Amino acid sequence: MSSSLLLQATKVGKGADALEIQNRVFMAPMTRGRATREHVPKPIMGKYYEQRSSAGVLISEGVGISQQGLGWFKAPGIWTDEQTEAWKPVVEAGKTKGAKMFAQLWHMGRQGHSDVMKETPVSSAEKPMSSPIPANDHERKDPETPHALTPEEIAAVVKDYGNAARNAKKAGFDGIELHGANGYLIDQFNQSVINDRTDEYGGSIENRLRFLREVLDEVLTVFPKERISVRLSPNGAFGEAGSEDNVETFTEAIKHLASKQIGIVHLMDGLGFGFHEKCEPFTAQMAREIIRDVQKDDIVTLLLCNVGYTKDTAEELIKTSLDEEAPVDVAVAFGRPYISTPDLVERFEKGKELNPDAPHAAWWGTDSEEGYTDFPLLSEA
Ligand SMILES: Cc1cc2nc3c(=O)[nH]c(=O)nc-3n(C[C@H](O)[C@H](O)[C@H](O)COP(=O)(O)O)c2cc1C
Repeated sequence: MSSSLLLQATKVGKGADALEIQNRVFMAPMTRGRATREHVPKPIMGKYYEQRSSAGVLISEGVGISQQGLGWFKAPGIWTDEQTEAWKPVVEAGKTKGAKMFAQLWHMGRQGHSDVMKETPVSSAEKPMSSPIPANDHERKDPETPHALTPEEIAAVVKDYGNAARNAKKAGFDGIELHGANGYLIDQFNQSVINDRTDEYGGSIENRLRFLREVLDEVLTVFPKERISVRLSPNGAFGEAGSEDNVETFTEAIKHLASKQIGIVHLMDGLGFGFHEKCEPFTAQMAREIIRDVQKDDIVTLLLCNVGYTKDTAEELIKTSLDEEAPVDVAVAFGRPYISTPDLVERFEKGKELNPDAPHAAWWGTDSEEGYTDFPLLSEA
């Protein structure tokens, strides 16, 4: 057995639906914009995930749950049969070297443009973004004032999450992650800086978290609790998020997730992807304490941490967590390192350098293998 905790196998959840994972190195969800204009996955995406499939879990790029929710040019969706079929070989490829694969279910809300979404963006409130947002062909356009969803429309969006989760299951994903981070739709309900509703979906923390709770209940009708992850970014400024009461809001959110005993709470605890500075940072330690308080002597939820981790800081975090009395298991998601270093696990195992970071232009810009599947592997050196 490896002395590295990061490289050790573990489990997500307990019981019959627990997921065996080969290590604690997860790939963070990353939109790469290599699907078709109609949001159908392309075969090259299979090659991309296959190259990274020595991870413990690959969390897919954000996957649109509906046309209404998908405003990213050439990002994939999973609301139609055609999209679902096209995901099947991609997911199979993503498991080649033993990784499990979760689909990150995504509704962008006010962060999309009607050019891509084909209708006026929706949100919790009629608050537009203040800076230009991505539209077709990576053009940036002035933001539009979103339509604030009515309770009846919210119920329809909740059903869209259910449909997407069912399709994810058909496509072979082991589980799903709700994208509750980065100022997208779920976060647009959670955060007081955006949500100014006066009905049962706004105002108190309890009310603002109602949408998240309803979406979670819906996907729990499709996947067992062990196969569900929820991603949260209490510290992030992305998407013009960041509220003074985020510690209180996200404490309640994590309490709820822990009470539901879901497989993974995915916390963007690091500050290196933008910190809003509106309140104190929400730490991994705080999340562990909440999970422990709720689950007491039967801790089942894995805490997945992300943002700015290296092998050493990840090892340190896991060691600290596992050394605690009543330990909460922890894994670490790597984002940017995985863009340029597909064989991150092998490099960690062998103590080898990572490839240099990919240029920003490679993140979404090209439509070819360049900057996507052409990064050198150790085995080719
Ligand atoms: C190109 C790119 C695309 C991203 N797309 C997503 C996404 O689809 N969903 C999401 O939750 N986060 C997304 N993120 C954020 C990453 O998951 C991660 O949180 C971020 O890169 C910080 O982790 P790192 O320091 O390990 O890179 C994206 C980041 C990058 C660089």
